[in-house]
This record gives sequence, C-alpha cells and structure tokens, in this order.
Amino acid sequence: MKTVQSKSVCPVESAGGLDMPIRKWLQNPRKILQPYIKNNMSVLDFGCGTGYFTIEIARLLNGTGKVVTADLQQGMLDILKTKIKQNSLKYDIYLHKCEENSIGLNEKFDFILAFYMFHEVPNQEVTIKELKTLLNPNGKILIIEPKIHVSKNDFRGLEKFISNNGFKILGKPDILFSMSLLFSLK
Ligand SMILES: C[S@@+](CC[C@H](N)C(=O)[O-])C[C@H]1O[C@@H](n2cnc3c(N)ncnc32)[C@H](O)[C@@H]1O
Repeated sequence: MKTVQSKSVCPVESAGGLDMPIRKWLQNPRKILQPYIKNNMSVLDFGCGTGYFTIEIARLLNGTGKVVTADLQQGMLDILKTKIKQNSLKYDIYLHKCEENSIGLNEKFDFILAFYMFHEVPNQEVTIKELKTLLNPNGKILIIEPKIHVSKNDFRGLEKFISNNGFKILGKPDILFSMSLLFSLK
C-alpha cells in the first residue's frame, strides 16, 4: 500500500464542486447512508469538506445520537458552519479541526464515514490505526474513494492493509464512480 506521499487536498476554493446540485442525483446522500445510520448512533464524518454528507447524517439521526464532523481545513468547516445555520438544523453538530496525521479525537463512534478523502491522507496506515481506536466494538467504517483519483491497485492495497490490521471487510457498496469498503473490527 502506498503510504507517505506528498498529497494535495481538495482546496477550499473548489468547495462549490462538492455541493453541485447534480451530485444529489448521482450520489444521493440519504440513499447512500440510510442503511447504516440508526437512531442514537454516534457518527463521525471524517474529511467532511463542506458537509455534503454531514447534513444528511444529522437528518437521519433525527435529533438522537451525535454527529461529529472533522476536517483538516478550517475553511471547509467554516462553510459547513454557515450551512448548518442556513438549514436551521435543530441538532448539535460538533465541528472538529484535524491535523494532517492525527484526527485528534478521543471518543468512540458507531459509524465513521470517509467519503472521497482517504487518498488525500498523507499516511494511510497511521490513519487506519487511529480510526481503529475511535470505533465502538460493533461499529462500522465506510471508506469511499473516487475511481478517477485512485487506482484499483492502490485500493486493493488499502483493503489488504485493513484486513491485516484487525478489521473484517463486510461489503463493498455500489456507489457511482467509486470504490468502497465497509468494515468492522474482527
Ligand atoms: C474531496 S473532499 C470530500 C469532502 C466530503 N467528504 C464530500 O464527499 O463531499 C476531501 C476533504 O478531506 C479533507 N482532508 C484531506 N486530508 C485530510 C486529513 N488528513 N484529515 C482530515 N481531513 C482531511 C479535505 O480538507 C477535504 O475537505
């Protein structure tokens, strides 16, 4: 698996692309997340960007549970903060700024989403190990990567690393333009 490389992150200036209306047709956040999110869950949206998925996570939790959303870039979190106000969500969403090689949270989650962000993480091995410490015993992680940025080979390497480091692969949900891994602790 490729680990330490110099990687560029999706710039805040391109954030508009994450919220293009057509994305709702191609990657409907409710359809994608509904199978995994149940009332009272604690959910982490890791690499949340502008919160395309965060808002839907909050809606699916319907005032129960907890949503934590984490990103490396303060600019993304600021956009999300405005969006939360505009959507007048009545639920608390906790915004957290990560460091490049450390998520820096010390609580446990029932579901962790990492959508189109893992290829931007500089050291994936370190991050997978940290994610393990953040997962409740019955929790699940869903990593989705874009085919356009990640080769099949690199994704297979990631799957192998995950399988060899105390996780079991539960499935590979079908998501347009993407490769995915759903996994839990062994
Ligand atoms: C392509 S965007 C995807 C955003 C969102 N998940 C979505 O699907 O709309 C990738 C996001 O991951 C964030 N990111 C990249 N590396 C990160 C890291 N090491 N820790 C936390 N966030 C990171 C970037 O700042 C960016 O907001």
